[in-house]
Parts: sequence; structure tokens; C-alpha cells
Amino acid sequence: MTAYVPGEQPREGAFIKLNTNENPYPPSPRVFEALRAALTGDRLRKYPDPVGMHFRQTASRVLGVDPDWILIGNGSDDVLTVLTRAFVPEGGLIVSPTPSYLLYHTLADLQGAQFLTVPFTPDWKLPHPWPVRSADLTFLANPNSPSGTMLSLPEIAALRAAIEGPLVIDEAYVDFAESNTLELLKRGAKDIVITRSFSKSYSLAGMRFGFALGDPELIRHLYKVKDSYNCDALSLIAAAAAIEDQEYFRTIRARILATRNRMEKTLTDLGFSVCPSQANFVWCRRPDRPVKQIYEELKNRHILVRYMNYGDHGDGLRITVGTEEEIDRLLTELAAIL
Ligand SMILES: Cc1ncc(COP(=O)(O)O)c(C=O)c1O
Repeated sequence: MTAYVPGEQPREGAFIKLNTNENPYPPSPRVFEALRAALTGDRLRKYPDPVGMHFRQTASRVLGVDPDWILIGNGSDDVLTVLTRAFVPEGGLIVSPTPSYLLYHTLADLQGAQFLTVPFTPDWKLPHPWPVRSADLTFLANPNSPSGTMLSLPEIAALRAAIEGPLVIDEAYVDFAESNTLELLKRGAKDIVITRSFSKSYSLAGMRFGFALGDPELIRHLYKVKDSYNCDALSLIAAAAAIEDQEYFRTIRARILATRNRMEKTLTDLGFSVCPSQANFVWCRRPDRPVKQIYEELKNRHILVRYMNYGDHGDGLRITVGTEEEIDRLLTELAAIL
């Protein structure tokens, strides 16, 4: 099988890192306080809470759902693995629109399942009618990566009506969007699971934490599949402290959205065709020249962005929204390169 290749993490040299959609701002100060308080021999000596009850109770207050609706994960990738193992038999079928998150294909390979992709339309919508009814699992990244685009609730409802198996809505980037699909769950959807990440909006990519939201009956079955101690004690403490500090969350979110708007405008002025983003990155392309060269030029100048080539869907640069200063540097260097 082909391995999933994560974005580059340079070990040497001072790079401006805009290639893996990390948050450019640190986690909430409350995360550091909580971690410091937790660093006792006793906490590390003992196993963590296998079901992460303190985190689930805290998250349930913020999100307005019961703790029973939440499954904890070692990053949302872990939750995607649990979902695949729970729903997809060997020889089964996983479907996803493409281009999207490449890990879905790897998960299918690991499970000995087939993987079928359905191309997005050129404006990143789903085709009508949706062509694959009987999948064991359908993955939808919303907002999508690399495009940063988002499908609306009616579009998701139409997809849901067109498929038989469960729909996993991967909301790793949803905290940067104008809406989310939690409402569908609250209205009683039993065939939808939402996955969320703390790597982007809560600045905890290095900690590894994510979770799933779904009907309690379904979540109960997922517990059979996950590793007993899939989340370590410190990640559970950090995640609870981070989600509790909604004021800090809103402050850095607003900063990132302001920088994103500025980036979209200036990249357009520089001649890129920019996809309007609902995430913490921007997908941009050029009809007039190969962008691989621009990626390489930026790398020579110690700015790392993600170059992606999707064959039929063409190639482009996926650029993470950094700090104001990082994006100033990026835009200055891009202007010089062009
Ligand atoms: C669409 C999508 N889903 C999930 C993830 C995984 O996030 P986590 O760090 O929570 O495992 C990523 C990471 O880049 C992503 O782009």
C-alpha cells in the first residue's frame, strides 16, 4: 500500500511554516496553568481516564450536547480510524468526494476496503445525483481541504438522503467557518458522526486531541473499538482547559479571520485565483504559470507552504493563515518572486 505522507516538519533552519494548518498563536494561558498543576508524580504514575469524562463534561457545556454524545480521540485522525474500524468490513466500501483529505484512502487500504472517490464539480460542489448509494462509510471534510470551501446544510441533507451507510462529517476546520452541522445531530440525525480537532482552532497540534460527536447509541459502540487509553492524561487536561476558555478562542479566531481576508485580497491582486475560504488556510492557483516553481522559490526563502497536484483537478498552493507578520513576509516574497 501507499503510505499517507504528512506535511513536512523541518527539523533544521528557521522556517515560516504555512504548510500544515497549525494555529500561529499559542494555546490559551489556561492550558499551561492546567498542565503545570497536573505535573505531579501521581498524575503521571496512574492511567488516564479511559473515557475522558472531565473533558466530555466541559465540552458538553460549551457545545450544548450531553457527554454521552462525545467520544475522545488521540487527534481527530484517531477518531477517523475508530470510525473506519467500527463501520467498514474487510472488502467493504468507503466513499469520499475528491480532492479532499488523503488519509481517507489510507484508512480504506489499512482496513482492506475499497476506496471510491467522487469528483467535486469545478466550483467545489457535489455532483447531482450523488452516484454511490451503498457505501459502508462516506467521508466528507467540511470545510474541505485543500479548497477551504464548505457545503451548506441543505447540500449535506441531500447527500445524506442519497446514501445508505453512515456519513462522517470531518469538521477539523469548522471553527473558522460561519456554520457547522451540529444542528443536524441535535435535531436527531442518527446516521451522522461529526469529528472535530484541537490541532487547528485550539493550537494543540503537538498535544494530539480530537473528538467525535454522534448519537449516544452509536458512540457507545465506538467505545468497543478505540484503544482503552487512547488519550493521555495531559492531552485530556489541556483539551478541557482549552475548550473552557472560549474568550481566548474567540480572540484568536477573529485575528485569523482578519488575516485570512487580507491574504485573500492581496493574493488575488497578485494574480492568483483564490478559493474563498472557510478554514484557516487558502487554496490558490495560477492559470498563467506552474505554481510548483513558486512553492520552491518560497522554500528557498525559508517559507514553507503546501504544494498539491490533483491531476484532473489541477495543482495549487495551500497556504496556512499565519500571524500578521508571517503573512506580511509571505506576501512581500511572493511579490518579489512574481
Ligand atoms: C480534513 C482533516 N481532517 C483531519 C485532520 C487531522 O487532524 P488531527 O490533528 O486532529 O488528527 C486534518 C489535519 O490536517 C485534516 O486536514
